[in-house]
Amino acid sequence: MFNTMTITKAAGAIIAPLLFLLLVAWGASGLYHVGSSEHGGEGEHAQAYTVAVTESAGGDKASAGDDAAAEAAAFDAAYASADAAAGEKVFGKCKACHKIDGSNGTGPHLDGVVGRAVASVAGFNYDDAMKKHADEAPDWTPEALSHFLNNPKKAVPGTKMSFAGLPKVEDRANLIKYLSTLQ
Ligand code: HEC
Repeated sequence: MFNTMTITKAAGAIIAPLLFLLLVAWGASGLYHVGSSEHGGEGEHAQAYTVAVTESAGGDKASAGDDAAAEAAAFDAAYASADAAAGEKVFGKCKACHKIDGSNGTGPHLDGVVGRAVASVAGFNYDDAMKKHADEAPDWTPEALSHFLNNPKKAVPGTKMSFAGLPKVEDRANLIKYLSTLQ
């Protein structure tokens, strides 16, 4: 009674579920090994993480460069429409230490500071950190001032200027615009 076709179908009906079971068992054992802490699966698992970390470390480096470029671009945009009158108010935070009449206080005078050479006020006793900064970045361009004022201790490690920084780019742009009017 059984012809070849019927036998093939019957065999298929038996073999297919078996194959399926085999695949499930194989998949489950794979999961088990990856999850367990004692088999080769662990190693593969750890390696997968190593690859991920390497990729993200590369990404971090790229984004550090992007951050500096983004900071400069954000400042340039803010500086283009900066408001010197608003900057005069921000300068209230600097007045305790900086004068703008050509005389020095706790800090050097700041008249003409935009475009001035770093650490160049005669008679002011700059610390080594600021003198070293002058070797690396000789002039107080608007961008250099913005970078310094964003976080003075980070931009010039060891500076004796005790000021936390101006994290808002608009504040820095307005202030530097104001300083640029004092010649
Ligand atoms: C607590 C006092 C203090 C405050 C507040 C302060 N500074 Fe200073 N600043 C200093 C001192 C001290 C130095 C000299 C730093 C050195 O030699 O490392 C300095 C240096 C500087 C320099 C470098 C000048 C040069 O001739 O190279 C700039 C620019 C500057 N300050 C801007 C500002 C601005 C703008 C503010 C306000 C947002 C401010 N500072 C707030 C004390 C202060």
